[in-house]
Amino acid sequence: MKITVVGSGYVGLVTGTCLAEVGHSVTCLDVNQEKIDGLRQGISPIFEPGLSELIKRNAGHGRLSFTTSSKEALAKCRAIFIAVGTPEGENGSADLKYVRAVAQTIGEHINGPALVIVKSTVPVGTCREVALIIRGELSKRKVQFDIAIASNPEFLKEGAAIEDFMRPDRIVIGLDAQNGRDDFLEIYAPFVQDDPSKILFMDIASSELTKYASNAMLATRISFMNELARLVDHVGGNIDEIRRGMGQDVRIGRKFLYAGPGFGGSCFPKDVEALMKTAAESNVELSVLNGTNQANKTQKKYVSHKVLRYFNHNLAGKTVAVWGLAFKPGTDDVRDTPSYTIIKALLDAGATVKAHDPEAQETFKALMGSTSSLHYAKESYDAAHGADALVLVTEWAEYKRPDFDRLATLMKGKAVFDFRNQYSFPELKALGFYYECIGRPDSRRS
Ligand SMILES: NC(=O)c1ccc[n+]([C@@H]2O[C@H](COP(=O)([O-])OP(=O)(O)OC[C@H]3O[C@@H](n4cnc5c(N)ncnc54)[C@H](O)[C@@H]3O)[C@@H](O)[C@H]2O)c1
Repeated sequence: MKITVVGSGYVGLVTGTCLAEVGHSVTCLDVNQEKIDGLRQGISPIFEPGLSELIKRNAGHGRLSFTTSSKEALAKCRAIFIAVGTPEGENGSADLKYVRAVAQTIGEHINGPALVIVKSTVPVGTCREVALIIRGELSKRKVQFDIAIASNPEFLKEGAAIEDFMRPDRIVIGLDAQNGRDDFLEIYAPFVQDDPSKILFMDIASSELTKYASNAMLATRISFMNELARLVDHVGGNIDEIRRGMGQDVRIGRKFLYAGPGFGGSCFPKDVEALMKTAAESNVELSVLNGTNQANKTQKKYVSHKVLRYFNHNLAGKTVAVWGLAFKPGTDDVRDTPSYTIIKALLDAGATVKAHDPEAQETFKALMGSTSSLHYAKESYDAAHGADALVLVTEWAEYKRPDFDRLATLMKGKAVFDFRNQYSFPELKALGFYYECIGRPDSRRS
């Protein structure tokens, strides 16, 4: 099928590339000329395992192309995916200006019947608004085409995006009429050959809400475990044992029960806020979700406080190494990353910070701007060289089993703050390290 994907970010680029991989003819449209120029040369603007290879292969076969020309991209395509950003607006609601702009562009340029698919995460009612904008533009042009509007939220995880898209758990599709159903089956059949029942058709409002509900549930699990870990820090126990005990209950399951420095990323924080905003507009109180949000903010401060407390809140003249800037391993995405809160707290307390991340240093630099006390190291051990403390924030594989003998000789001070519960206290203690983690017996009681 001839498909156009509007927006070539994490979701749009992965969507377009994977659709091309199964044989569809895909044009990726973006307003960012630099991004499109790079993509035409096979350069992926984001780090996502396996993506560059797929882009090159499919572009090479002529199934995948990139353009900034709306006219070119929207002429004679059967399906149009909208995959632009929906960042958090000023009052917490989803900012829909990019989605609305794309709807207008579609209305201005399509020249035949089309299935318009909203893949961006959008609040209830947005698909209806997209339909109105497109139809408004068509009537200005005094033309009429058969347009079907659908919601098809994306559930891929950054760092595993290709795998998630190629082998989805489920494909949620919101349609308010039968119109478009067969097109969807044609688009997605290659991805669900093992189990076609993974395609879940529902009404548009349910589909729009399913995405928010899923992210809100996952965020709530994380905040729940983080709060429990804080309790364990006070009353004793081991959050890892508690997690294992809980996870064996099939009603609970084992995933998403890890204590850490708080959730971040491009989706959970903004989607939780947006869902609360939707509820507030209808005078419905989502008290559980409100707690999830508050607990997350507290967690980021709580872990920062552990480091500050160790230095009696005065880090003037101290150097802290921070391992991990991306909000999770496998991505260069630093949106709402816990590292930001932690590094900011360290800098505000007078520290010099030496940061390392295998993929996210450039994106983090862009986020933080230039700060004289923040340095970036080429190698993880360079960051630790001469440092008074080491803070692990993102559990990249290369940080999981560091050479602590080497760190003991490299570092000036011997303190390790492990906010992903990766290391073993006895091993560190034997080398004379001070060690704190979260919710384990060896983490200091506050
Ligand atoms: N990143 C994720 O892991 C993820 C997962 C699931 C869902 N989502 C949702 O998918 C949507 C997209 O997220 P993302 O992370 O891919 O965003 P992104 O910011 O990485 O990419 C958005 C892209 O859209 C382009 N764009 C903006 N306006 C445009 C326009 N008028 N025409 C063409 N291109 C335009 C931008 O230049 C950018 O390249 C969001 O709603 C997000 O919540 C994201």
